[in-house]
Amino acid sequence: MELCARTLVEVRVARSAADVAAHHAVREAVFVAEQGIFEGDDRDAWDEGAVKVVASIAGRVVGAVRLYPLDEAGLWKGDRLAVLPGARTLGVGAPLVRFAVATAGEAGGTRMIALIQKPNVAFFRRLGWSRQGEPGEFRGATHQPMAIALAGAQPAFAPEGYTWALGA
Ligand SMILES: CC(C)(COP(=O)(O)OP(=O)(O)OC[C@H]1O[C@@H](n2cnc3c(N)ncnc32)[C@H](O)[C@@H]1OP(=O)(O)O)[C@@H](O)C(=O)NCCC(=O)NCCS
Repeated sequence: MELCARTLVEVRVARSAADVAAHHAVREAVFVAEQGIFEGDDRDAWDEGAVKVVASIAGRVVGAVRLYPLDEAGLWKGDRLAVLPGARTLGVGAPLVRFAVATAGEAGGTRMIALIQKPNVAFFRRLGWSRQGEPGEFRGATHQPMAIALAGAQPAFAPEGYTWALGA
């Protein structure tokens, strides 16, 4: 069963109105209803220009993540990673993170950062992320800053004319 579920996970950028709505529904279910980190709505100003991603199993959206550039030097941020409670440990979260990293790298990104809830640090380390600095409080929960190098940090991947900075 587990193998079957992993095979069926589809991760894609939310382009249709239905996918965008499903993306927000997952975030709301997890960050508003389940965790209570946000009250009523977890949307903010970054949502306007962010790449919104969904993961679905058998046609049903069960996971979400968003990503956006922070500057023109290739620094990206990933956040709002969420998998619905009933769909966890089936191999949805890991592909969402890998997809976000690949998407930002393809866009020329050199480095992605994220604030990771303490219990998920091991999950991100397994995916190649490293701790950056000390943990801190964010919306009442302890978060660890983490980062990963993106494909745009490799000269071969840098689009023409793009200003990239190794080790930025
Ligand atoms: C964190 C989260 C996204 C993980 O999603 P998921 O779909 O359960 O993750 P996966 O099934 O892809 O996990 C991949 C592997 O990591 C393991 N794993 C999952 N969560 C883990 C954790 N918190 N710590 C350590 N390992 C973890 C899984 O068991 C699996 O191991 P396996 O490959 O040996 O079977 C999910 O638990 C979630 O949505 N949590 C609530 C919201 C949240 O905390 N978001 C992150 C904010 S930083």
